[in-house]
Amino acid sequence: MFQFVLITVSCLALTNADIHVLFVPKSEEELLSFLGLNKSDVNEGCIDAWEYVERCYQATIEGEYHYPTQLDIYNASGILRAAGVLRNFSDCLGDSSCAANSIPIYVVDASIFIVENLFGDAYDCLSKSNIDGLYMSCAYQYNGTLSVDNLPHGFKEVSYCVADLLPCSHSDFLSFLAAVDAGVDLHNLWTNIESTLVEAIKNDVAYEAFDPEAYL
Ligand SMILES: *[C@@H]1O[C@H](CO)[C@@H](O)[C@H](O)[C@H]1NC(C)=O
Ligand SMILES: *[C@@H]1O[C@H](CO)[C@@H](O)[C@H](O)[C@H]1NC(C)=O
Ligand SMILES: *[C@@H]1O[C@H](CO)[C@@H](O)[C@H](O)[C@H]1NC(C)=O
Ligand SMILES: *[C@@H]1O[C@H](CO)[C@@H](O)[C@H](O)[C@H]1NC(C)=O
Repeated sequence: MFQFVLITVSCLALTNADIHVLFVPKSEEELLSFLGLNKSDVNEGCIDAWEYVERCYQATIEGEYHYPTQLDIYNASGILRAAGVLRNFSDCLGDSSCAANSIPIYVVDASIFIVENLFGDAYDCLSKSNIDGLYMSCAYQYNGTLSVDNLPHGFKEVSYCVADLLPCSHSDFLSFLAAVDAGVDLHNLWTNIESTLVEAIKNDVAYEAFDPEAYL
């Protein structure tokens, strides 16, 4: 189906082993060394909060999905159900007092939003549209040397071109664009995730909350 969905969905902790390691280093030492931080740089509450992430993961995701799990991206109801599990994870994390937990919460909330827009009401039409084919022809128009492998270079422009060609209703079109825009913002956070985490942990300042209204 759509390659780019794989890219955004692979941001989900459920499908990518590295993400689990990234979010939940096994020990305090691992966390500090991953972030290149010194113990004295870190608010003690955030070290405890990191363990809280692991507990939330176990309580919500691990109980539902025996790790490692590959989700079937052709099964929309299964994917939506996974988004429900992620919502429980996000709600659990929200109870923590560490500002840096705002970052995994943002990633999870953005992923849920993307999934719900692509696999909700719009799924029926999107899954029948040849999105990969449209994507390739739009990418070629945008930049003759750009291949799907070079995503997300020009991702937004190319996806807007795809949206205009979709044989779907206006509301499906809007869902698709909302998912694209949220995916671009998620990707931008993702590419700087390490430094963003370091800043949030050192300064104990929260990252912005994911705001679905911004994409409607
Ligand atoms: C850790 O912090 C201490 C005290 O600020 C400093 O002396 C030491 O060099 C730091 N170590 C690293 C690896 O940054
Ligand atoms: C799709 O996922 C749902 C929910 O996880 C599951 O009950 C159902 O059996 C799956 N359908 C197929 C065809 O795999
Ligand atoms: C989310 O948590 C609630 C309360 O524990 C539970 O009833 C529900 O089944 C969970 N949802 C999913 C999709 O796991
Ligand atoms: C076209 O895509 C290639 C590969 O991603 C990139 O190196 C190049 O700068 C792009 N050219 C333009 C005009 O955007």
